Amino acid sequence: MKILRTIDDIKTYAKSQKDAGKTIGLVPTMGALHEGHLTLMRTAKENCDVVIASVFVNPVQFGPNEDYDAYPRQFEADCKKLESVNVDAVFHPEPSAMYPQGYCTYVNVEGDFTHKLCGGQRPGHFRGVATVVTKLMNLSRADKAFFGQKDAQQVVVIRRFVEDLNMNVEVNMVPIVREETGLARSSRNQYLSPAEKEAALVLSRSLQAAKIAFEAGQHSTSALKAIAIKTIQSEPNATIDYVEIYTYPGLEPIETVTEPVILALAVKIGSTRLIDNTIFGGK
Ligand code: PAJ
Repeated sequence: MKILRTIDDIKTYAKSQKDAGKTIGLVPTMGALHEGHLTLMRTAKENCDVVIASVFVNPVQFGPNEDYDAYPRQFEADCKKLESVNVDAVFHPEPSAMYPQGYCTYVNVEGDFTHKLCGGQRPGHFRGVATVVTKLMNLSRADKAFFGQKDAQQVVVIRRFVEDLNMNVEVNMVPIVREETGLARSSRNQYLSPAEKEAALVLSRSLQAAKIAFEAGQHSTSALKAIAIKTIQSEPNATIDYVEIYTYPGLEPIETVTEPVILALAVKIGSTRLIDNTIFGGK
């Protein structure tokens, strides 16, 4: 696996692959890789000749009181995992290479949907994501890029700017990968103590409870939301940031499930903020 550290490294590598007629798949990550990330890599590998992963904790998508400094960085272990799934190259730049002195260009997706869910709670977050993903798409010359449903709103934002900026990248969404317990895999699960990890099961349990009620005929979104909230509130260690149901991918409010919807939640377990979601309904 090639390790690309500079802007020149990735530009040269991407050009060589393009010149050889290869299709390029991009999988952006912030590292601390787990089975969720590796599933994205495998899907990319199945769909493209060459896969470029990125491992970059992107400073501009973190708020001032968020976990940028504490975010787990374990590049050597990440490389071993990437090699195990036959990733061709990993881009691992310094922040100063991505945002050098004088840097002042940002991609700001302005739709209402960017202010909901995580966008409401983390101002500037999606501006940071859209900016870095645009740069990574340009640098890698990706034909296809792969993202997880775990961050379903992020996928909506990325699809929007790719369309609006006429970028030639196909955006693919891969289902959420969970532990056997149901806990969605996340780099931030590393922050949890064993007791907190147990408490964190309440996220997937609450999604499951709402989905079961939906399948049993409850189609009112406020009733379904109430079921999820009640389940989360049964866990003393859990504090709700948000629990919402919107249409997906439109992210509009809806009273009755007559088209695909997302039940999305952000919950703090101790001081760790976790997100999870499920998409259901419609045809
Ligand atoms: P990160 O949180 O490292 O996630 C990288 C990719 O892995 C994202 O597309 C995310 O949705 C996906 N992913 C994470 N956990 C997953 C799971 N349990 N199942 C399936 N996919 C999962 O998301 C980011 O980084 C950043 O915002 C990034 C896009 C890299 C921009 O900096």
